[in-house]
Amino acid sequence: MSENTRVAIVTGAARGIGRGIAERLGRDGLHVIVADLPYAQEGIADVVDTIKEAGGTATGATVDVANEESVKALVAAAVEAGGQLDVFIANAGIAQVETLLDYKVEDFEKIFDVNVKGVFFSYRAAAEQFIKQGTGGKIVGAASIVAFKPFALLGPYSATKWAVRGLTQAAAMEWAEHGITVNAYGPGIVGTAMWDLIDEKLGAKQGLQKGEALAENAKSILLGRVSVPDDVARMVSFLSSEDSDYVTGQTMLVDGGIEFS
Ligand SMILES: NC(=O)c1ccc[n+]([C@@H]2O[C@H](COP(=O)([O-])OP(=O)(O)OC[C@H]3O[C@@H](n4cnc5c(N)ncnc54)[C@H](O)[C@@H]3O)[C@@H](O)[C@H]2O)c1
Repeated sequence: MSENTRVAIVTGAARGIGRGIAERLGRDGLHVIVADLPYAQEGIADVVDTIKEAGGTATGATVDVANEESVKALVAAAVEAGGQLDVFIANAGIAQVETLLDYKVEDFEKIFDVNVKGVFFSYRAAAEQFIKQGTGGKIVGAASIVAFKPFALLGPYSATKWAVRGLTQAAAMEWAEHGITVNAYGPGIVGTAMWDLIDEKLGAKQGLQKGEALAENAKSILLGRVSVPDDVARMVSFLSSEDSDYVTGQTMLVDGGIEFS
């Protein structure tokens, strides 16, 4: 890796959208820190190998984004591996399907711990490093279409994504003076393990067969197909590059035309 190679952390990168983003940033020539929970070691190693096979460079790392010390240690490991940090993609997130009346308080706390505190800790650790370096940098977080209009049975999940949109705007306001841009991406319906879970749980609640809840929701996609991780990765590539230097505080929908911002 050359001296001026830019360094990006991607959390939740062992599979799904995070994997697509990590592979894309690798192809863009960034050194990618492929980070996920310890259980996902195999997936992390596989993504690192895939990036290297495509001619890029990458380092695997473990993190629990809900733990601030763990996120700080991840930034330190990235700086150790790549010399500095240029991009932080706070992609890690979880989904839960439940009615508000039946929602367990522990589940509510868990989803806010990962999706909101996890993004807050990631944004803050990245900003601290960028300010220390005096370089500016790019911070990008995972929101969703539900940050604009909730899905029923995904109420707290939707609220976490509204929170990501709000944090993204506040962080953009506070850190612009340091040359830091902060944006989020809002995928629609992406065929990942997360939607397998949503399809299964919605189906169980609504008496549908496997795949039917996904198919029903997919009818609202103007462009006529369920999304793949690379659709999102293309937007994140833009938000991580100098082409987006005059864009900050935005949550960019990448949903095939389900919602309009
Ligand atoms: N799939 C979709 O349709 C969709 C739509 C809108 C937004 N999103 C958002 O995009 C992001 C990625 O979604 P996905 O579909 O790829 O999900 P996924 O479940 O396939 O992958 C999420 C990854 O995050 C990791 N992760 C979970 N908790 C973590 C933690 N505490 N610390 C570190 N890593 C953790 C998981 O191990 C997993 O590898 C999420 O934030 C999700 O909410 C997804």
